[in-house]
Amino acid sequence: MVVTLGPYDSLRDYIAALDASGRLLRIPDMDQDKFEATAFAYRQADRLDSESTRAFLIEQVKIDGNVVAGPVVANLYGRWQDEALAFGIDPAGDSLKALYRRVLGELQKRMSAPGQWNRIAPVTVDAAVAPCKQVRLTGAAINLLAFPWLKNFPTDGGRYINMASVILQHPEHGRNVGTYRCQVKSATRIGVNPEPGQHGWRMLTDLKRKGVKEVPCAVALAPDPITFAVSSNKMAGFGQDELFIAGGLRGKPVEIVTCETSDVMVPAHAEMIVEGVIPLDAMEPEGPYGEMYGYQGPRKEQNFFMNVTTVTHRQNPVFPNSFTGITHDMPRAPQTAAQFYKYKAIMPNITSLYIPRGANGIVALTIDKRMAGEGMAAGQAVATDLGKVVVVFDSDIDVLNPGKILHAIGARWQPHPASTIIPQTLAMAPDPSQRNRGMSSKIIIDATRQWPEEGGPPSWPPLSRDQLEKECPEAFQLVDGKWDSYWR
Ligand SMILES: Cc1cc2nc3c(=O)[nH]c(=O)nc-3n(C[C@H](O)[C@H](O)[C@H](O)COP(=O)(O)O)c2cc1C
Repeated sequence: MVVTLGPYDSLRDYIAALDASGRLLRIPDMDQDKFEATAFAYRQADRLDSESTRAFLIEQVKIDGNVVAGPVVANLYGRWQDEALAFGIDPAGDSLKALYRRVLGELQKRMSAPGQWNRIAPVTVDAAVAPCKQVRLTGAAINLLAFPWLKNFPTDGGRYINMASVILQHPEHGRNVGTYRCQVKSATRIGVNPEPGQHGWRMLTDLKRKGVKEVPCAVALAPDPITFAVSSNKMAGFGQDELFIAGGLRGKPVEIVTCETSDVMVPAHAEMIVEGVIPLDAMEPEGPYGEMYGYQGPRKEQNFFMNVTTVTHRQNPVFPNSFTGITHDMPRAPQTAAQFYKYKAIMPNITSLYIPRGANGIVALTIDKRMAGEGMAAGQAVATDLGKVVVVFDSDIDVLNPGKILHAIGARWQPHPASTIIPQTLAMAPDPSQRNRGMSSKIIIDATRQWPEEGGPPSWPPLSRDQLEKECPEAFQLVDGKWDSYWR
């Protein structure tokens, strides 16, 4: 099969590329009444490192005793190879480290300034050619319960639409596109969960304060992967339209189409659009829900909800699901690239920045330290908006390799004086260790070799490996040349 490189116009095109490159696992059926799909997601994560896990597609799923047609797809992102495809970068042939550098370099070309993405305005297409309008459901024909939304955990409050972009329009601040989980509450009602402080939450609470009674809203299931990346990462400031950034990253506009029942515009190539209105004079319970850190979040007594007025979808829609806290559900490359180049512009000797997959709250940095204190200064700068634990290494540490990271912390770091603790600051809400949701302490660990003036030893002994390479450079050539023969 021929692998077509992105940027893709639709999720299904990306799935086809994963399939063609042998990176998609196809599973005929699963029994989610027995939580088979959730347990499978855990077992993949238990048995494989995160770069070796696969996106998986389940053709049909048993839900509440019924076999429901999918496909349900999951674990779609979070691997450099797959994300490279999504961003139109050929992943072939490189080591992981080289691919990481190449992806970041390519994404830098899509920035107008360090950390600032190019913008391309979306274009409106006619409803007649919009794939998301191939099937229209109104009135009694709407039954959200008939679709394969999954209940991930026995303790979840219900089944969830958890990989969709919630699109709102504010009269002053414009459009907002954010990925927020939506609990399926009945045939025509869903919860909508922007956490306090999120841009969607700010828009809804602002309109409520102004006395607005209800807001039109559209939930776009599975726009193209880049639009989904922008919807799921903080890449747009408040009042900046995510679809312009998605266009800039794609190098071509996102095609949008008007909703059936409101002026809200939605990505035309999405798999499904759930349209409706969010009442602002009422709220209701939502959750509990197994959240991104892998712990069960609280049942919320008062949360937003939406009354559904219309559903449009493609023929045979694809249903992405987040097995939240287990699978990798959002492309991380753009956020990594934006942060790397933003901080590199201030401190050019920062050589890499990495947000390890599956380790929420941890950020690893490397730096070519030129003066005492620079490692800690770089870590403090990054900690202002990223991570709970920011660890700074010398540039010889491969931050994509968790073993090397842990080894360097063990061998090079002295907790005193090479640590700084920030006692309390704003942070990502679902971290279960927080005493007050949304507030966290932070630590910056300077695991660069500390110089004497930083409190380190008078001198550092040479690395044994460097000694070997210096004294007997042919040793590695010998082993590399015979490598395959050792495994026969
Ligand atoms: C699969 C997935 C589910 C998410 N669910 C939520 C959610 O329920 N509530 C929330 O506030 N953020 C959630 N997020 C994170 C937001 O999408 C992200 O912070 C985004 O920047 C929010 O958009 P905004 O900046 O326009 O508010 C989720 C992200 C992903 C990838």
